[in-house]
Amino acid sequence: MAAPDLDDARKRYHFALPPEDYQRLPFYAALLHELERDTLALELLASVRLEQRNPMLVLATLQLAALRGHSVLGPIYDTARHGHIEDPEGAALRVLDVVHETPELVRGELWRSTQTNEPGRSAILQVLIANLVADSIEEISVIEVGTSAGINLCFDQFPVRSRDDGNPLTLICEDLTPIDRSRKMPSIKSRVGIDPNPLDLSNEDDRLWLKACLWPEERRRHERLDAIVAVRASWPSVIELTGSALERLDDAFNLSDADTLTVVINTWVAFYFTPDEQRAYFNELTRRCRQNNVAWISIESTMVTWPGVNVDEEAHHRGASQIVVTNPGSSPTHWGWCHAHGRWLEQTTSS
Ligand SMILES: C[S@@+](CC[C@H](N)C(=O)[O-])C[C@H]1O[C@@H](n2cnc3c(N)ncnc32)[C@H](O)[C@@H]1O
Repeated sequence: MAAPDLDDARKRYHFALPPEDYQRLPFYAALLHELERDTLALELLASVRLEQRNPMLVLATLQLAALRGHSVLGPIYDTARHGHIEDPEGAALRVLDVVHETPELVRGELWRSTQTNEPGRSAILQVLIANLVADSIEEISVIEVGTSAGINLCFDQFPVRSRDDGNPLTLICEDLTPIDRSRKMPSIKSRVGIDPNPLDLSNEDDRLWLKACLWPEERRRHERLDAIVAVRASWPSVIELTGSALERLDDAFNLSDADTLTVVINTWVAFYFTPDEQRAYFNELTRRCRQNNVAWISIESTMVTWPGVNVDEEAHHRGASQIVVTNPGSSPTHWGWCHAHGRWLEQTTSS
């Protein structure tokens, strides 16, 4: 067996946070700094299968233990989520002590995958879907590829504002260009999600893992997830199909009403496909969109490039997500840009 690559693990911890986040997330910055200098922490990360060798996985296992009530970690993470850690370096050292006392706490959970479900993307989906659908269409079916816990299949349930109104469910989205938010949202006849590992908000382990994968100092994201869990039972139901996009797309279409427009969405998913999967997925979606009752909305990092759709690499868009829309009977077209968590939206084409 090859020796674990500790130098690679050190770099992964070192570059896990962009420098601009050090001030915003002082506890996570201090913790990553300690982990990067600790041989056991390096070994733990180096032992993870390559496709999940992400420091955020190690961090999430620690927060999971905290959420499960660990006597030392619980209070530290609770303060990070609800208040302010006075001494982030001291807190990071106490967490490292726990790793040394009980490495099993981390090691035993490294089989998992970092998995989030970002509701902020619903603010973007609301605009795109309302603008895509002709006034004459009253009802649509939605298929979400890479649905995670299915939160964005309920995109129409969130209030969207340009400013915080104190409601944890409110999505705050700033329009950088004039955006028509006046169009009526069609009603949603069916909501079908596909994911190799669908998460269920009513399952405690899934719920804790979704929370563990959020950064503890991002208090608003925690409050929003808690609020979604509290209201989820009153929202429309969704069907979740287990499997990969290409395996389950036919099944998803079979569950959708062939007489309504079906809108397929993927947000931050194709990034995880192999190049062959990306190509096959693109071909499949563009083939289906040649029909007049299928449309496709793709919101992905600029690391995902779709054939024939140019990625504008302007410096100020670095880190933005690219929105590509395919209207029924049309080809994929670059629509604009948005923040990866839906905090802003910019349309670069006229609708
Ligand atoms: C970063 S999460 C994004 C989840 C959700 N779309 C969102 O925007 O919050 C990526 C999701 O894609 C799923 N995924 C990974 N590979 C996939 C595949 N081949 N087909 C469908 N979903 C996949 C993962 O399980 C995970 O739930």
